[in-house]
Amino acid sequence: MKRHALSLAVAAASTLWIGAADLALAKDGWPSAGAHAAKGHHKHHRKPPAEPMVCEDLAGARLPGLEVSVAETIAADASVPAPAHCRVLGTLDARIGVDGKDYAIGFELRLPEAWNGRFLFQGGGGNDGVIRPALGAIGNGQPTNALSEGFAVVSTDAGHTAENVPVIGGQLFGIDPQARVDYGYNAIERVGETAKALIALRYAEKARYSYFIGCSNGGRQGMVAAERFPRLFDGIVSGNPGYNLPRAAVQHPWDVQAFGAAAPKAADGRPILSQSFSNSDLTLVTDAVTAQCDALDGLADGIIENQPACHFDPAVLQCAGAKTDACLSGAQVEALHKVFGGAKNGLGEALYADWPYDTGVSAAGWRAWKIGTATTSMPNSRIVTLGGPSLPYIFMTPPDEVAGATPDQNALAVYDYLLNYDFDANASRIDESSGIYTESSMQFMSAKPRIAPFRAHGGKLILYHGTSDPVFSVNDTIAYYQQLAKRSGGYPRTGRFARLFVVPGMNHCSGGPATDGFNTLAPIVEWVEKGRAPTSIDATARPENGTAWPGRTRPLCPYPLQARYTGRGSIEQAENFRCVNVSRRH
Ligand code: BEZ
Ligand code: CA
Repeated sequence: MKRHALSLAVAAASTLWIGAADLALAKDGWPSAGAHAAKGHHKHHRKPPAEPMVCEDLAGARLPGLEVSVAETIAADASVPAPAHCRVLGTLDARIGVDGKDYAIGFELRLPEAWNGRFLFQGGGGNDGVIRPALGAIGNGQPTNALSEGFAVVSTDAGHTAENVPVIGGQLFGIDPQARVDYGYNAIERVGETAKALIALRYAEKARYSYFIGCSNGGRQGMVAAERFPRLFDGIVSGNPGYNLPRAAVQHPWDVQAFGAAAPKAADGRPILSQSFSNSDLTLVTDAVTAQCDALDGLADGIIENQPACHFDPAVLQCAGAKTDACLSGAQVEALHKVFGGAKNGLGEALYADWPYDTGVSAAGWRAWKIGTATTSMPNSRIVTLGGPSLPYIFMTPPDEVAGATPDQNALAVYDYLLNYDFDANASRIDESSGIYTESSMQFMSAKPRIAPFRAHGGKLILYHGTSDPVFSVNDTIAYYQQLAKRSGGYPRTGRFARLFVVPGMNHCSGGPATDGFNTLAPIVEWVEKGRAPTSIDATARPENGTAWPGRTRPLCPYPLQARYTGRGSIEQAENFRCVNVSRRH
């Protein structure tokens, strides 16, 4: 509460300052101190050093909990692309966990010589545990990155190092309560604040604007930042966010059990998950969904814009007699009903979200996540091998240990855990705390639409989500946005600080039959610094994504608007589409 009261006060000053436009800011180069001082908040802002620090001297930087292991000058490399910059590798809060292992929040900060005055926090992904190069990806298929555009960029392992143990090595940190909290939210604040302080030392000037861009677990981090650390960033882009990750993880055993019931069994009695649906079975689903729902938006172009009007039921595909390539078995139809209906407990109460039937179900990425390609009972779908161990180790409280008799049996042990997961006995444990685990996983992982302080700070939030995402349901993100709109006075008012862009056909962050190539940095910078909210985002079907429509462009529209063909000009060109308020038309 203390944090929020303080941020509200400072936020008022910040809003004025952002409203004052960037011209004045660029002139004196030291705007926030002035604006805040005028409101009497100068004591919260560290005075910058008079002289910029030499890159290598950052090795001796003294900040709370910080140890710098590398501070080196890196030459420009056009192939990355990366400009000449200073690379700082460091750790925060090194300690020994309850499991006797070493922990620290690791990070990499890259500081370009030609700095544009801005800071970008690059979101993580998966279970984190690795420090990825802090280049700052700005969307799929973009020729530049934030670093090459002059931003200082930081990345983090979120407080743990993935262990070299098959399947469960990325999740073993979940035994340590502090590592859970670091992964959930604490690393975002610690790394964000430390990066800002190092930036001020390096340039003798504070970052004028701070941004966050991430997808998936990285998208979740951005939403967590908007809620918990409302002054840390001015602009946040969250893609395909797992903002309810423990709930999404409960969907994993649900999917495994549903697909398993429709799959042939191996000699060991376990289902061969990948064989629950052949590729032609999945194509059958896609073709039927497309036939029913593509033209609901007025144009048969292989893209379902009007997803809310699409009420597909796979029962229309059920075989009257024996299973053939032209129909689905009863068990397959039941599996789809269960999976797309979303995980439920024995009372029929939703444990996660439901999922839209979309054109991406027969794309390779959908199979890779949901059922995999393994031809034995040793599963290789990502919801088993990547998401699966997260449920017992990180999200169940207290954690369940799920190791096989030998390391190469770990995938089978996780598989058995998911196959036998009891939704009535166990799913509530994501909302429970116990002993040394003082926060439930929903507490430390999830993000709620309580972002009034972020809004008051002048913060802007861009959400985007692919409708064919097989691991985090777009419907869950739509639900967040609807709740936010309810709390914020409706869509037009909410759109002044938060917008959601639904990406038809897109898989998890990229891929699928979609216009999945778009720049996420330009619109958030334009919004934060110029006050121009994105009325649409230009998206391209990327040839390198194996698209059926190379070069096709579409506007991505702010929810609840949808793209509609104007009826004139090429259907391959975004300029012939408009974002339309569909609800008003009916
Ligand atoms: C991801 O960041 O892609 C992710 C994280 C947890 C589970 C599944 C996916
Ligand atoms: Ca269409």
